[in-house]
Amino acid sequence: MKSSFGDARRCPKIAPSLLSADFADIRAQMAVVAEAGADYFHIDVMDGWFVPNITWGPKIIKDLRKLTPLTFDTHLMIVEPEKYVDEFIDAGANIVTVHWEATVHAHRLIQQIKSGGARAGLAVNPATSLSELDQILPYIDLLLIMSVNPGFGGQSYIPTSTAKIAAARRMIADGGYSVELEVDGGVHAENFVEVGRAGADTIVMGAGIYGTPNPGAAIKLVRELWAN
Ligand code: DX5
Ligand code: ZN
Repeated sequence: MKSSFGDARRCPKIAPSLLSADFADIRAQMAVVAEAGADYFHIDVMDGWFVPNITWGPKIIKDLRKLTPLTFDTHLMIVEPEKYVDEFIDAGANIVTVHWEATVHAHRLIQQIKSGGARAGLAVNPATSLSELDQILPYIDLLLIMSVNPGFGGQSYIPTSTAKIAAARRMIADGGYSVELEVDGGVHAENFVEVGRAGADTIVMGAGIYGTPNPGAAIKLVRELWAN
């Protein structure tokens, strides 16, 4: 299997996180990043159990689906994800990412997501070692490296994440897997290039986009930084 990801010269895909958007103005907030060329919408689902915060469920995703054809990259930070993945797929999620730490049957869950017709992602918390993942990597479509502890937008990037991203990139390349490598948490204009060079195919940005005065300009800025 040859990986179609990991092209070092290509700018990483950009996935604005709606967690930092203003939901009172969500239509405009989504349009501005789509016009600036965002690749995905990253949608953070939190249940108040797996993480100490609560966001939204399938109904919101179903409604947002009417606003855009762009990929919905859905990050489930919930316990018992096997109970809910089908509902999120029905609501319009294109990528469904579940946490390694939230299930004891990751292989079964990944198959469940794929049989539902979505791409299957696996997220790992900062304290989880990549060495645990050797048996599941051949089966997933996307690996999400958390570079903050999940739960909130606007946190600081954990510096050791860069070496972890590079190690994940090597594991994917060495195994010849077709796995998209995504990084989530604390990425902004100052460290976007570092994260991309370490090997991220896709970079989530919440505060780094929606916390700036001009979200569209923030996307253009990181693309320019990458090109120069
Ligand atoms: C954190 C979420 C992230 C968050 C990223 O638990 O998974 O997707 O929105 O936000 P920033 O880019 O502000 O760290
Ligand atoms: Zn996320």
